[in-house]
Amino acid sequence: AVERTLSIVKPDAVGKNVIGEIYSRFESNGLKVVAAKMVRLTDATAGGFYAEHKERPFFPDLIEFMTSGPVMVQVLEGENAVMKNRELMGATNPKEAAAGTIRADFAQSIDANAVHGSDSLASAEREINYFFAQTELCDRA
Ligand code: CMP
Repeated sequence: AVERTLSIVKPDAVGKNVIGEIYSRFESNGLKVVAAKMVRLTDATAGGFYAEHKERPFFPDLIEFMTSGPVMVQVLEGENAVMKNRELMGATNPKEAAAGTIRADFAQSIDANAVHGSDSLASAEREINYFFAQTELCDRA
């Protein structure tokens, strides 16, 4: 089925100036950008987005990293978009990411891991609504 998923190009990848290279991975694999913006997250916006990780030991480092510079936030649309995007990203820890994935090619560490992608259709819906109004989602069908 055609799905939408939320993707973030994280501060490390924006800093390395590889936004376009990462967008190319999406586009050449059948995913379309239907909304996008560059934002500098605050402690509050990053904390709300990652609320499910609040009790995890890595949470403070995660928030510090995600607020360290601007991020690109986009909604990707396509057949099986949630899983497709996760395949393109590779494993959360770039040391475990398969060759040719975004994290294998652009990421340094489990925190500076280049991209975020929704892990389920339910998360995608919450995460898209967290960053975008319905009126900001474009129809590209
Ligand atoms: P992301 O998909 O954005 O979701 C939460 C982030 O926390 C994850 O990518 C990693 O960048 C970061 N993180 C740091 N340590 C861990 C860990 N041990 N397990 C999972 N995520 C971690």
